[in-house]
Amino acid sequence: MSSLATKLTARFQWASSPLIVSAPMRVMAGPALAVAVSRAGGLGFIGPTIKTNEMLAVLKEASALTRKSTNLALPASKNLPVGVGFQLWSDDLETATQAVEKYKPCVVWLYAPKDVKDLDTWSRRFRDVSSETQIWVQVGTLAEVRALLKAAQPPDAIVIQGSEAGGHGRASDGLGLFSLLPEAVDLVAGRIPLLAAGGIADARGASAALCLGASGVVLGTRFLASTEAKINPGYQREIIRADDGAVSTTRTLLYNHLRGVTGWPKEYSPRGVINRSFIEHQAGTSFDELKKRHDELVRLGEKAWGPDGRTATYAGASVGLVRNVKDAGDIVREIQEGVRRMLRHEEGAKL
Ligand SMILES: Cc1cc2nc3c(=O)[nH]c(=O)nc-3n(C[C@H](O)[C@H](O)[C@H](O)COP(=O)(O)O)c2cc1C
Repeated sequence: MSSLATKLTARFQWASSPLIVSAPMRVMAGPALAVAVSRAGGLGFIGPTIKTNEMLAVLKEASALTRKSTNLALPASKNLPVGVGFQLWSDDLETATQAVEKYKPCVVWLYAPKDVKDLDTWSRRFRDVSSETQIWVQVGTLAEVRALLKAAQPPDAIVIQGSEAGGHGRASDGLGLFSLLPEAVDLVAGRIPLLAAGGIADARGASAALCLGASGVVLGTRFLASTEAKINPGYQREIIRADDGAVSTTRTLLYNHLRGVTGWPKEYSPRGVINRSFIEHQAGTSFDELKKRHDELVRLGEKAWGPDGRTATYAGASVGLVRNVKDAGDIVREIQEGVRRMLRHEEGAKL
């Protein structure tokens, strides 16, 4: 492990190396998932809530969960041993600051500002109210990394998101993690630790990202298939069923619009599993008709997901590597053990 990686992991007294992080997936990553990941020696994130004022209740729940006695209890910590994600273009800074001040999550993860300068404003406010809270920013381009290096409030770590990632990512200027990450590592030149996100679903991907220079790895899609994810069973079944992400997933704003979500900055577009809505959209069916069919099926619950489903099934290009539902703690431990085995093996091979 690099010294940057060792230092980063050491900031989280419960975490072990290599640092495995569960992504702040809006709605799907709630307190149960985040706490389970941290409890297993990783770093769990709670995703942005639909309305920012819901975050106070969510953090209260996370705080109560971390205090629950179990044989793998988290150490008493000044900071909440989970991170929290905010989506800058839609979240409210005042309300978010109150939540951070009250619960002091160990990390705040910032994403998707309307203007890059907003990152400075948000970072300064959080640092003012909770000096121990780290600021991480997720980006998908080298231009954003360059801007962060010059920022008035540089982040404590940068998450480099490859175009393989599930959920929102760069709409048109994204790049696969294998090329993007090492170039970002060269650019940053040891000044700030980088984490890798996008397409990592097991120990092989995690080992590769660490070899490319990441100080930790972030997984989203893999944790959608965890016992603790807050996900409809129909959605989770589709994550297990879908394979060949090149064919079965795409980036499109269609599903956002069908769900009535608008306002994302134009640089972003989400990756998800293709279903009937997208196929019929490509065949020329009008949006109004697609919306009618979407809303009718959503009323039926689980049927809204699957090959014959019609609603958003956000997932990454690695969806074909996710074949079973597991406890989040087991996912963390298996990846950590696998990475240790693989990297030890490589080390041995060199000698
Ligand atoms: C269902 C889903 C929802 C997501 N929501 C968010 C979000 O609210 N904020 C954010 O910064 N990233 C979000 N992401 C992106 C993750 O932060 C991360 O970049 C991605 O999951 C990594 O790629 P992977 O899915 O291939 O592991 C989401 C990802 C997924 C799959």
